[in-house]
Amino acid sequence: MKVLVIGGGGREHALAWRLAASNSVTQLHCAPGNPGSAQLATCHQTSDYVHLAQSLHIDLTVVGPEVPLVAGIVDQFRTQGLHIVGPNAANAALEGSKIYSKRFMQKLGIPTARFQTVDTPEQARAAFPHFHFPLVLKTDGLAAGKGVIIAQNHAEAEEALTQLTCPLVLEEFLVGEEVSFIALCDGKTAVALEPSQDHKRIFDNDEGPNTGGMGAFSDSRILNQTQRSSILETVILPVVRATQFTGFLYAGIMMTADGPRVLEFNVRLGDPETQPLMMRLDCDWAEALLASARGALTPDLLRWNPKPATCVVLASEGYPGPVIANRLITGLELPTNCQVFHAGTRQTDAGIVTDGGRVLGITALGDTLQASIQNTYAGVSHIHFEGMQYRKDIGARGLRTLK
Ligand code: AMP
Ligand code: GLY
Repeated sequence: MKVLVIGGGGREHALAWRLAASNSVTQLHCAPGNPGSAQLATCHQTSDYVHLAQSLHIDLTVVGPEVPLVAGIVDQFRTQGLHIVGPNAANAALEGSKIYSKRFMQKLGIPTARFQTVDTPEQARAAFPHFHFPLVLKTDGLAAGKGVIIAQNHAEAEEALTQLTCPLVLEEFLVGEEVSFIALCDGKTAVALEPSQDHKRIFDNDEGPNTGGMGAFSDSRILNQTQRSSILETVILPVVRATQFTGFLYAGIMMTADGPRVLEFNVRLGDPETQPLMMRLDCDWAEALLASARGALTPDLLRWNPKPATCVVLASEGYPGPVIANRLITGLELPTNCQVFHAGTRQTDAGIVTDGGRVLGITALGDTLQASIQNTYAGVSHIHFEGMQYRKDIGARGLRTLK
């Protein structure tokens, strides 16, 4: 089949890399793709995705980022009778609006943090006494992972009000291990991918501001079968049944002492969680995705390598603030057990240069989590660009907590 991947980040390069290895894929296209996916697929610079899919006779389109989903790409494709993996615009609002998402969870009885919505800074101030510190403040709309501030005290909450755009969700702070629980959904049923953990803060030991994600690992020990079934039954399937949800439903879960609580819904795969997940996937990915797009998903279509995988993100100087771009990247030829997934890179006559906040995701499997971390950092040590920053502790939490 001919497959089209929409998006140009590390997640989409990893998706394309796994699809390129699917027996059922005869042609692979990306829009826009990046210098990494260009080694596997034909890249197209257009935003008229329907026309692109029709003119190339694409059998299946997979959407990476949330922006086209929220804008209704899935509705447009379906109107034309084209198979696509993703939610319709109405369901994409689960990610597009935190207020909608929290009210939806409340209505369906999905376990989540206690919250209040406010329209103005004055309303927020009036609501502060209803919460303990730390207090979590969230912008309602899409914010590329940067719309959440955890205020430790009153002064930080005041400061947050100057940084976040109203309306806001205020919610109680939850304590526990955070897990990325992603399920592929076909409108009637859902099959969970393997669990993974993201590292959202910019600095080691989870310090500094939130980012889009500085690294991730996937290890089957993150959740046992009982925990997986419980999250599927209490979080994912209620959404699928209430909304005929299609595509990837990503629940950011806090495993609290009182059980799993949803921190947020995303309506797509995680970035960088997808990078280690694609390393672990051990089946015909295109076949599974097409089955989901046709409403014929079955659990046997998804199979996994039991080995853990780790991804370390290499970011530009300045990230998550404004970054300095156009820096030449050297050392991209890594040992065969490592994959380089491109994100913010650009091909120039002089070579591949940095072109964004998150530049590359170095990813490797290992016989153990420790081995996958070592293999990944061995790959990282080959690569250089001026101002390169990355966390040195990706996966370390897993080494401490997973038994
Ligand atoms: P969100 O975009 O809602 O997932 O928030 C971004 C990050 O902030 C999450 O991945 C958590 O690490 C943290 N966070 C969000 N909500 C809470 C909460 N209620 N309690 C503790 N941490 C949270
Ligand atoms: N890695 C978190 C996200 O994709 O939202």
